[in-house]
Amino acid sequence: MGETAKIEIEGKTYEFPVVVGTENEKGIDIRTLRDKTGYITLDPGYPNTGSCLSGITYIDGEKGILRYRGIPIEDLAEKSDFVEVSYLLIYGHLPTKKERAWFSNGLTRHSLIHEDLLRILSDLPPNTHPMATLSAVVCAMSAYYPQFLDPDLSKDKVDALILSMLSKVRTIAAFAYKKSIGQPIIYPKNEVSYCGNFLRMMYGVPAEPFVVDPDLEKVMNLLLILHADHEQNCSTSTVRLVGSSRANLFASLSAAILALWGPLHGGANQKVIEMLELIQAEGGNYKKFMELAKDKNSSFKLFGFGHRVYKNYDPRAKIIKNACDLVLKKLGVDDPILDIAKNLEKIALEDSYFIERKLYPNVDFYSGIIYRAMGIPVNMFTVMFALGRLPGWIAQWKEMIEENAKIGRPRQIYVGNVKSPYVPTDQRK
Ligand code: CMC
Repeated sequence: MGETAKIEIEGKTYEFPVVVGTENEKGIDIRTLRDKTGYITLDPGYPNTGSCLSGITYIDGEKGILRYRGIPIEDLAEKSDFVEVSYLLIYGHLPTKKERAWFSNGLTRHSLIHEDLLRILSDLPPNTHPMATLSAVVCAMSAYYPQFLDPDLSKDKVDALILSMLSKVRTIAAFAYKKSIGQPIIYPKNEVSYCGNFLRMMYGVPAEPFVVDPDLEKVMNLLLILHADHEQNCSTSTVRLVGSSRANLFASLSAAILALWGPLHGGANQKVIEMLELIQAEGGNYKKFMELAKDKNSSFKLFGFGHRVYKNYDPRAKIIKNACDLVLKKLGVDDPILDIAKNLEKIALEDSYFIERKLYPNVDFYSGIIYRAMGIPVNMFTVMFALGRLPGWIAQWKEMIEENAKIGRPRQIYVGNVKSPYVPTDQRK
């Protein structure tokens, strides 16, 4: 018998198995706790709760390690591309040449969306936040692709659904942007790469040739790879929770997009730029804002700082920070908010408030500066995060469905009124 943990309750000792992961992560398997003891655990926000066993992404937050299917993020960022990383996350291994060709062709074949979906884009007011548009259209896809609604899909159908979502969501994101600025949409082109097509659909104009800038394409690949999965975060847990009821993938992804939108999660990249612009507009006095971030009477916080899991430098932020200087130089952009960001980081890393709480820059701190240099509007930043996270969400959904996971259903400790009488209206005080 393996290692066990003992819990003593009301003088009685209960034993529970210890689960050990491949990287020696340990957890107490309390699946029988309630049946054996009548007790549950209380863990709001779930910082101590493992919701599943997963073989997709490994994070060591103390050491600042992130690996997809065992491969360090630094290697993938340097040597791979987003399509390959998507395959790796979803299918568990780097694709062979044949697998890569199948996957790339599939993405090309599935890139168009049902034309009627464009009506939804047209009917939304132009100032609709693109995250709302993306979520609405992804949910509406369930009406146009009913062949994917059955929870018991064959392997071929799952593959077609995966390719469809990866390719079509990219198309929808670019179309949503074009609609929001009142420009005609640009359709994807078969000969162009996944990221190249997105850039073409975003920046292209009808009847004019569009040459994909290889530097921009490379940067986009890098950013999407860095966002591609991050184990059981808020939006990924949403995918698993919604999917656990056997709701379809459209519903799960639409819900995940909405969860990602929040400023404590993916929406932080938009907030970071708005914060840096505010500091710039106020004369660049970053020290004043640093004091505000520490002031418990102020609601201001340093967006792009802190993380539930990383108690060391977020490895994704390290890569993006290094890329920032190179990209801005290559694009010939001199952005003063990069200096503000660097100054904020410098004083934060020397400040006891941030040191004691182990608050470091996270993935969102520098990514927005690159998006800005690429000409992507601020309200599209979180959409870029969603595009990147898509393969991770799909991989986690697939893993959950394949292991026939139980429906997600946490418990609670009730702290409301005890049994109370119903008082008729005329007798109420
Ligand atoms: N600025 C100022 N104080 C902070 C910050 C911050 N950005 N982040 C955490 N703290 C303080 C917090 O007030 C608390 O202080 P105290 O112990 O005195 O009450 C302490 O640090 C611990 O923070 P927490 O909020 O309890 O930690 P959490 O694990 O619940 O929250 C977080 C993690 C990411 C939501 C939080 O750090 C935060 O709000 N950061 C800013 C938003 C942000 O950048 N989000 C993007 C995260 S990375 C992308 C993604 O994967 O979602």
